[in-house]
Amino acid sequence: MKPIDFASKLFAVTGAAQGIGAAITQALLDRDAIVAALDICADTLQAFRDRIASPRLHTYCLDIANYSQVESTIGRIESSLGPIVGWINVAGILTPKSILETTPDDWERTFAVNTTGVFNACQCVARVMVPRCSGAIVTVSSNAASVPRQNMAAYAASKAAATQFTRCLGLELAEFGIRCNIVSPGSTDTPMQRSLWSDATATDVPDAVLQGSLSHFRIGIPLRRIASPEDVADAVLFLLSDRARHITLHDLRIDGGATLGA
Ligand SMILES: NC(=O)c1ccc[n+]([C@@H]2O[C@H](COP(=O)([O-])OP(=O)(O)OC[C@H]3O[C@@H](n4cnc5c(N)ncnc54)[C@H](O)[C@@H]3O)[C@@H](O)[C@H]2O)c1
Repeated sequence: MKPIDFASKLFAVTGAAQGIGAAITQALLDRDAIVAALDICADTLQAFRDRIASPRLHTYCLDIANYSQVESTIGRIESSLGPIVGWINVAGILTPKSILETTPDDWERTFAVNTTGVFNACQCVARVMVPRCSGAIVTVSSNAASVPRQNMAAYAASKAAATQFTRCLGLELAEFGIRCNIVSPGSTDTPMQRSLWSDATATDVPDAVLQGSLSHFRIGIPLRRIASPEDVADAVLFLLSDRARHITLHDLRIDGGATLGA
């Protein structure tokens, strides 16, 4: 089988400063890729950069919800580092609230980051990939995009929109040889996930996450483990690689069976 070759190729990862985005960035760097790591949080990004200390890691601070920042950052990346061959949409936010408690601002910001952010990035990066007739885009969505969850309506709806947008993008870009896929994680051990736990410093995953909770209409995780960010990174790298050359418009669920494949 052809080996996956990421060496010296340029990838851009949004939401790269921590959690799943950091794991994807690390996995790409481990394979000798060059990575443009984008995040809104300058301090976390700087700490990540200091920890990784790789000359192949380049960091950019931006708000993915801001179109002109996204457009100019992609211009800066391409003019200083070269052509972006893979783009990974990871930046996302979750404000857990019931629908009755969700404010119009909560709703708008959730969609601005999780949905409009994906549109902003994909349109701007597609404009540079199309003339080259090559590229791969992966959007990290969520298994909540297809299965309803309590206290996550805005998040789930924003992820459903991002998933469907990425599928439509894949359809429009297929003629240019650009593949667009989605990975949909379930509960993954990151700062976002821990913000949902009553004890964010706990070493054991709360029972309700693994066993499920009838009061939350939530099935557990049949594989009885929470995903590590690296589990998600492995799937993303596969979809970016030539081994996935005939896979596009696909939504790969990485949730230990938590949504029964729905
Ligand atoms: N952790 C989980 O259980 C889980 C499950 C399903 C899906 N996801 C999705 O995976 C992705 C990564 O999640 P995570 O758990 O690593 O989250 P996280 O909160 O740990 O990290 C998200 C990163 O995105 C950055 N970010 C937020 N808003 C941004 C913006 N406007 N512009 C640029 N960067 C921004 C944050 O600063 C942070 O570094 C998200 O899209 C999330 O919805 C996570």
